[in-house]
Amino acid sequence: MKNVTLDTAGADSTIITVQQHILAEQRKHSPHASGSFSWLLSGITLATKMTEARVRRAGLLDVLGTAGNVNVQGEVQQKLDVYADRALVHCLGVRENVAIIASEESEEAITFDGRSGHGKYVVLFDPLDGSSNLDVNVSVGTIFSVLRLPEGFTSEDNPTKAVLQPGTEQLAAGYVVYGSSTIMVYTTGHGVHGFTLDPSIGAYVLSHENIRMPEQGTYYSSNDAYWDTFPAEYREYIAHLRSGATGRRYALRYIGSLVADFHRTLLRGGVFLYPPTDKNPEGKLRLLYEANPVAMIAEQAGGFASSGSGRIVDVPPTEIHQRTPLIVGGKEEMELFEEYCKPAHSCTPACV
Ligand code: AHG
Ligand code: MN
Ligand code: MN
Repeated sequence: MKNVTLDTAGADSTIITVQQHILAEQRKHSPHASGSFSWLLSGITLATKMTEARVRRAGLLDVLGTAGNVNVQGEVQQKLDVYADRALVHCLGVRENVAIIASEESEEAITFDGRSGHGKYVVLFDPLDGSSNLDVNVSVGTIFSVLRLPEGFTSEDNPTKAVLQPGTEQLAAGYVVYGSSTIMVYTTGHGVHGFTLDPSIGAYVLSHENIRMPEQGTYYSSNDAYWDTFPAEYREYIAHLRSGATGRRYALRYIGSLVADFHRTLLRGGVFLYPPTDKNPEGKLRLLYEANPVAMIAEQAGGFASSGSGRIVDVPPTEIHQRTPLIVGGKEEMELFEEYCKPAHSCTPACV
């Protein structure tokens, strides 16, 4: 028998894939875990690699442009929205431990026929975020949130009930940003970790361990085209950031893909805001599969995420595609926002 000593000093010993990381995390934090969550996560990573392969070659595969129909949100579906959605439904559908899924692209929650009843997870996702940017080669992403199937839930129960859980119930949350590189960021409640897809080996490899959001940044991120229709306290808050009254002048960065704007905010700090507008008085972003996963990641990295009237993760969901205002950022920017959010806020010279 030949006994191999692992080369722990060699360059390759530093390669930690997302699967290895998840298993190590489970061993560390849930010693009796059955590896069921890492099996679920491998469904998500596989689906995102399938999507990434299409995104990278979009212009060559006639996948650009619209699929010709409108989704439940009333938004024109891009062909890649449909592809990304199908990839996730398929890859999660073949995992027996997934009981129910909910997608931005499907009006109703999805269950799987013939399940032998072992499903214990509910997975919510935005299969392709920022998809209107695809045709102009701007970063897009996939966002996911994992919940536990409620105790005592049976196939007789309405699956929507299992989906409508507040963000505090999330077991895990993550996103993949298809940008200049493809990066997966996830949390299971024990810190936030980032993995870069290495195309030469087809694996997500640990590249950003234990990400912490800077307490103060230099960017604010909002679609200022809607400035006139933001509620006054949001206009005053942004004016304060712009004025230099905080001791630094903030610059505006806005990509128009939540995943890309949030990823920058997570790594560089600052604040992202999608306030209520006349067009979307409840806010535009969806609570369950955009705001909640982003909020869990932000809080796990030391940041904060507000709906404008409280923590995003405390908002009680009433419908699958419910929208919410989203303000998410570092400690300093969010403490300042809370000041402006308070009804008693009186305008200071920095406000306009
Ligand atoms: P999706 O492509 O999944 O519908 O999401 C688009 C969202 C989000 O990615 C982004 O932050 C926001 O739309 C941008 O909205 P505006 O174009 O109104 O700024
Ligand atoms: Mn989206
Ligand atoms: Mn989308």
